Amino acid sequence: MSLNKRKFNPMAALSPLLLTLVMFPVSAEINQEQFELGKQKAKVCMTCHGDDGISTQDPYPNLRGQKMGYLISSLKDYQTRERTSGLAVLMQQQADTLSDQDIRDISYFYSNLGSESNSVSDSSAISN
Ligand code: HEC
Repeated sequence: MSLNKRKFNPMAALSPLLLTLVMFPVSAEINQEQFELGKQKAKVCMTCHGDDGISTQDPYPNLRGQKMGYLISSLKDYQTRERTSGLAVLMQQQADTLSDQDIRDISYFYSNLGSESNSVSDSSAISN
């Protein structure tokens, strides 16, 4: 029908695609500067959370590849004592030393850890 033809709008046809690109940008680029900064600031965290964000102790969670938003909100929850269960007291002390910028940098580091290279990590890290 001519109705269909008249209503065709290339932008309307493209908009689902554009929306997808806006909502899920391809994260090709890592901000190397912030990553390195976060890495430096995260040195103290590695005692418990592992050198590569994979903890070697059962009670300590892995942070590698965790979502940035989740890391930030967790650290803020420790600061504000919203999170108190279990071993949270250990983390409250850690979180108290961090500024908002530290939290952003460290969270950036951990959320991108593992995605900075596609190369297979050295097999010595795998213990079993
Ligand atoms: C003394 C050991 C220790 C150190 C050092 C430490 N953490 Fe933790 N971390 C823990 C423990 C234990 C938990 C689990 C606490 C709980 O039950 O909520 C935890 C939990 C977390 C969580 C929540 C993870 C999740 O899956 O919910 C984040 C985020 C985190 N730590 C970040 C950090 C950062 C960033 C640093 C460095 C500034 C750090 N930690 C240093 C022991 C430590």
